[in-house]
Amino acid sequence: LFIHSIKLGELQYLHDTAVCVDKSGKIVAVEQLFDQKKAEETLYPKLGWKTEDVDVTIAEDGQFFFPGFIDTHIHAPQYPNSGIFGKSTLLDWLNAYTFPMEASLSSLPKARRVYTRCIQRTLSHGTTTAAYYATIHVPSTNLLADLCLSLGQRAFVGRVCMDNLGPDYYLDESASHSLVATRATINHIRSIDASFDLISPILTPRFAPACSVEAMTQLGALHQETNLPIQTHISENVDELKLVKDMFPDSKNYTDVYDRFGLLGKRTILAHAIHLSEEEADLVAQRGSKVSHCPCSNSSLTSGVARVRWLLDKGVGVGLGTDVSGGYSPSILDAARQAALVSNHLAMPPRAGDKRPDAERLPEDDRGRVRLSVEEVLHLATRGGAEVVGLGEKIGGFEVGKEWDVQLIGLGFVPDEDDSTEVKQIEDTGNVDIFGWERWEERIAKWVFNGDDRNVKKVWVRGRLVHERR
Ligand code: GUN
Ligand code: FE
Repeated sequence: LFIHSIKLGELQYLHDTAVCVDKSGKIVAVEQLFDQKKAEETLYPKLGWKTEDVDVTIAEDGQFFFPGFIDTHIHAPQYPNSGIFGKSTLLDWLNAYTFPMEASLSSLPKARRVYTRCIQRTLSHGTTTAAYYATIHVPSTNLLADLCLSLGQRAFVGRVCMDNLGPDYYLDESASHSLVATRATINHIRSIDASFDLISPILTPRFAPACSVEAMTQLGALHQETNLPIQTHISENVDELKLVKDMFPDSKNYTDVYDRFGLLGKRTILAHAIHLSEEEADLVAQRGSKVSHCPCSNSSLTSGVARVRWLLDKGVGVGLGTDVSGGYSPSILDAARQAALVSNHLAMPPRAGDKRPDAERLPEDDRGRVRLSVEEVLHLATRGGAEVVGLGEKIGGFEVGKEWDVQLIGLGFVPDEDDSTEVKQIEDTGNVDIFGWERWEERIAKWVFNGDDRNVKKVWVRGRLVHERR
């Protein structure tokens, strides 16, 4: 069984199907009404394959193949801080927890240890593609790229540009140094993966307050020159908004800051986008920039509730991000369920007697519509995310020509009843108990709300097996 999202809100269930993948990791055939013998007699000859050369993986009862998850926003160096945020909000969280941890990854042995674990952990949760922020250090950023390549995770790796606002122990010396360092990482990635098949550089101005006008001007020019993707943060926290307003008094708003420097392109990933105005969201849509929705982080740091339906209605492409360690969970399945939950918060009626100006939130008619369904959040986690990272042609579904970035999911079947009346221990196979009578739509809902890495049995990227659960 193959399950994938074919459009926002619609999963397709391909029963009795074979998906054939060639040696380069590309899908070359998707054929229905399948049994193994028929494949050997009709399908393999058509592809010019010999039976004895073919590796077959069969999804057992209760298992299904699902496109790999795409984490459109994650900070690898913050992984050791997962769960450590107390009652902080963005700006004090950066100073108290984040900058000290990132600064410490100037040590290559420490970076190796942290990055190896971060990649293995996210792979084990089914993340086949990640858009990583590294740190300001070139050698450890390059090491992150090396490790993604050797462990087999598709990745965008960004050396973080910040020549402003950071503490003096963790800051780019100057705008020009920031650019030289950025180019050094781009060149390194070109030297290990010449055509960026698996690993791509990504321009990474941390966020507007951390970048000087010179740095953003030069990054805009570098984007013009290279057409490389860009990732940054936008409109996450109200104190951050004030900071941006003070620092860029000539700009109309936060979005305009990036736009002025040519940083708002089709391949720009904007994380959070919580407090955007109508006008800003329209500009994001017009420029074709994309949004990474990070619900776990937004709840943890009390940043706010992003209006995903509103963005989607405007035609803005949206994917999901863990934002480790603003978000505590490395799992995109977790991000999917939290995206559903925080959309429910937008739909909740105000508390009786609440007289705050925003208490009405939404007209009653719109309340149901802002909620995101299981099918919708799974779309954001896969095909939506693929669009956000600019790989909509390559990954996100089971179509001929796409690459095999896939997870094999297994749900726990509770054994059939028998006549005995003795108390039996039932083997624990994870957090999703399937009794057998559920429809597949219901099994998927149980997976989204209760599943975890125990359900991820195998993970492939470009046809290579990169994780297996024993
Ligand atoms: N804004 C600037 N830097 C960061 C970061 O590391 N995490 C989050 N969530 N927001 C940021
Ligand atoms: Fe972030």
